[in-house]
Amino acid sequence: MTAQLNPRGDVAVLVPAAGAGVRLGPGRPKALRLLAGEPLLVHAVRRLAAAASVHTIVVAAPIAEVAAVRELLAPIAPVTVVPGGAERQESVAAALAAVPVGPDIVLVHDAARALTPPALVESVAAAVRSGHDAVIPVLPVVDTIKEVDADELVLGTVDRRALRAVQTPQGFRRSVLAAAHAAAGDALTDDAGLVEKQGVPVFCVPGSDHALKITRPFDLALAEHLLATGLRTRTLNS
Ligand code: CTP
Ligand code: MG
Repeated sequence: MTAQLNPRGDVAVLVPAAGAGVRLGPGRPKALRLLAGEPLLVHAVRRLAAAASVHTIVVAAPIAEVAAVRELLAPIAPVTVVPGGAERQESVAAALAAVPVGPDIVLVHDAARALTPPALVESVAAAVRSGHDAVIPVLPVVDTIKEVDADELVLGTVDRRALRAVQTPQGFRRSVLAAAHAAAGDALTDDAGLVEKQGVPVFCVPGSDHALKITRPFDLALAEHLLATGLRTRTLNS
C-alpha cells in the first residue's frame, strides 16, 4: 500500500541514494542492495514516509537507475526521483533543487541509514521548528580515539567526552541549507559541515543506534540481525 505523505506537513526530506557502495563490495548501487529481501532505499523511504511531518520526499538516484527507482518506490510512497551526481554533495544539491514551494524545513538523509526510526526524523524536525537553523543527530564516541602521524605513530589521545559521531537525518531551515549549498566549495560528506562554514550554529540532538550507516558487509549483517529481532535491541541512545 502506498503511504500518503502529509499535505500539511512542513518537512521535505532529501535522500541521497546515488552512491556506488564500493565499501560494501561488488554488486548493484548500494541503495538497491537487498536487506531482508528489500532494497535499502525501500526500507529508508518507508520509514521517512511514516514520519507525520513529512510533506515531500526527493530521492537522488544513480543516473542509470532513475526509472527503476521510480518504479520501485511508487508502491511505497509518493516520491520525486532525480538523477544524482558524482559526489554526495551534488546529489543533495540536485534533490534540493526539486523541492516544491512549501516546506520550510529540509532534512537530508542517507539512503544507507535504512533503519532510521521515524521518531528520529520527527525529533530532528522538531528541533529545527523550535528555532535551531541546523540540527544533527549524534551519538557519544565509545572508543578511545588517538591521533596518529603518517607512520602510524601516536601523536596523542583526544578527549572523547568532547566528540560526537554524527548521523542523519540532518535538519535545516530551508533558506539556510539553500544558502550553504549555493556557497559550497569543496565536497564535504555532511551538510552540517557546509552550514558550519557559513557560521551558522549547529545544534545536536540524541541519535539512534538504529540509524547506523550501512557501509561495509558487517553493517549489512548487523542490520539483517536487527530486523530479524524486530529492532528490539535498544540502548540508552536508541
Ligand atoms: N551518495 C549519493 N551520491 C554520491 C555518493 C553518495 O547520493 N555521488 C549517497 C549514498 O547513496 C548514500 C549516502 O550518500 O546513501 C552516504 O554515502 P556512502 O555511505 O558513502 O555511500 P556510497 O558512496 O554509496 O558508498 P561508498 O563510499 O562505499 O562507495
Ligand atoms: Mg561514499
